[in-house]
Amino acid sequence: MIYPSETITLRDGRRCVLRSPEPEDAVPMLRYMKIMLGQTPFLLRTPEEFDYTPEQEARILESRKNDPRSLMLAAELDGEIVANASIASHGSKSRVFHRAELGISVREEFWRLGIGSALMERLIASAEKLGFEQIELTVSAPNRRALNLYLKYGFTVYGTRPHGMKYADGSYHDDYLMVKML
Ligand SMILES: CC(C)(COP(=O)(O)OP(=O)(O)OC[C@H]1O[C@@H](n2cnc3c(N)ncnc32)[C@H](O)[C@@H]1OP(=O)(O)O)[C@@H](O)C(=O)NCCC(=O)NCCS
Repeated sequence: MIYPSETITLRDGRRCVLRSPEPEDAVPMLRYMKIMLGQTPFLLRTPEEFDYTPEQEARILESRKNDPRSLMLAAELDGEIVANASIASHGSKSRVFHRAELGISVREEFWRLGIGSALMERLIASAEKLGFEQIELTVSAPNRRALNLYLKYGFTVYGTRPHGMKYADGSYHDDYLMVKML
């Protein structure tokens, strides 16, 4: 699904464009992911584990754009991608067709400007329009920023997965499993 381009005003007065990324955004999107993944320990991949080529990334963006049950949004500030968020169907099987998965990230330099909230509002509204009945996500227990964002938008914790992530130093973080019924 394609989200038409929209300009919003951030908390500091700057203008930010929200839009569906195009295959032509593959290189800036890869740059964004590499930077962002190096700024948080709370996502699944390390920057080294995000190793798509521009061609692979362009194919992914093309297929997301053409998937009527999925939406990817990028936030662009001064021509640079600074955030990315998506909802996608949990699977193609009829019994899980009502469930969407959500993911979101913002580059650290642009936290607390309202970008995360703006993306969440649009993803939730789009999930409703697409006919999903619930949105699900997983968040690392110590990730207070993300947890607060999700609570703010009506997600609730329905379970805890012990040791969801293991780090190079041998330590673990539990995961919270969250859901929002639409
Ligand atoms: C979580 C994240 C997406 C928030 O994005 P953001 O653009 O800073 O969000 P906003 O400015 O819209 O703030 C939204 C809410 O998040 C929460 N929040 C943000 N920063 C916070 C902080 N430092 N402490 C506590 N809560 C915080 C608040 O509930 C805030 O709502 P409020 O502004 O009404 O108080 C961003 O910090 C991020 O990308 N982190 C790294 C990647 C990540 O953890 N992704 C989620 C994986 S599950």
